[in-house]
Amino acid sequence: MFNLTKQYFVMYPLRYINMDELLITDLTQQKNLLLATVQHPLSIHYPPSVSYRKYFLKSLISQIEKKCDEVLDDLYTEYTTLLSKEDSGLCFKSYFLAALFLAEWVSEKRDLFGDKHVLELGSGLGLTGITVCRQCHPSRFTFSDCHIRVLSLLKQNIARNISTATCSNTEPHSPSLNTANSDLDEAYEESQKRKQPEAKIGDSSFSSEDCHMKKLNEAEPWCEKIIDNVCIFTNVDCSQTEVWQLNWEIARDSTILRLSSDVDVILAADVVYDESIIPPLVRILSIILHGGNKREAYVASTIRNKKTRDSFIGALELASVSWEVLSTSAKMIFYYDRSVPVEMIKLTADDKGH
Ligand SMILES: C[S@@+](CC[C@H](N)C(=O)[O-])C[C@H]1O[C@@H](n2cnc3c(N)ncnc32)[C@H](O)[C@@H]1O
Repeated sequence: MFNLTKQYFVMYPLRYINMDELLITDLTQQKNLLLATVQHPLSIHYPPSVSYRKYFLKSLISQIEKKCDEVLDDLYTEYTTLLSKEDSGLCFKSYFLAALFLAEWVSEKRDLFGDKHVLELGSGLGLTGITVCRQCHPSRFTFSDCHIRVLSLLKQNIARNISTATCSNTEPHSPSLNTANSDLDEAYEESQKRKQPEAKIGDSSFSSEDCHMKKLNEAEPWCEKIIDNVCIFTNVDCSQTEVWQLNWEIARDSTILRLSSDVDVILAADVVYDESIIPPLVRILSIILHGGNKREAYVASTIRNKKTRDSFIGALELASVSWEVLSTSAKMIFYYDRSVPVEMIKLTADDKGH
């Protein structure tokens, strides 16, 4: 049952869920199944998409109809209630595979991240970073993304998953940064001058407007400051955790250098998906890797398109960044389609070439 619960919450494709194996011979077992999935307290607060729940219940009901004389009324009630609903707003069908892969990998690599300042680029919903914070005890973890709605969800996910209880040190860190010389309006105006390609997130596509600097929901319990044109939010429950609204395309070299002065490791999952974002991404990676000693970056990518992957490697070489494909294996924690190839690349500064 626990496996089914996990599969349901990651919206594991129904074709991979073996419903034949479920023990559903009586009404009590059917109710237990419902309580472990659609009526699970977590599902009530943070449900999978409407369409996933519809198809999940439809498959479950048809399986039960084959095996049992009677189908629990609650199953039909839940299903018919969902029939009149649509997915609305921002809906992520699931995490990107590379994030799941990277999260499994980091959870066994505490030595790489413990007591380090880790910066994640393109954090998305934050799975990888939350895993590092909970499993590896970094001295500081910085999530970053440019997309306003992604940042809002990211902040909610961090607040839910990284609290005082899971934070090893709630003393405020003191970044050696001057916050006085800029303000949000100025940053917003500056970002408006630049155009961006459309960023695709899962099944949702967002316009370039969404990557522009805007003020996030002030009601959220986060501190806010602006450093140059980067908006920074600090988690009040765990001050080692912060979120930067960082856009690779508009952040100045000097800002990146200044913000990343104590970064030890960079992480990124599934950020190499569009050729147009490779040059700005590689610029950020190169500035940070060359800006300090022994810095490393780990980039996990789903191999969708060889040309995009080759462009990334070419851009790294031009920027004097050394790369190495790591052979990886990690304990399987999540349910996802493992037939899709994911590659882990380790990056370091190539000082000879710079
Ligand atoms: C494919 S998603 C991956 C998200 C997350 N790492 C994961 O694997 O689930 C790519 C992420 O990069 C972010 N991104 C795209 N262009 C960006 C840019 N110019 N600056 C900063 N982040 C950007 C997107 O907002 C998105 O969250």
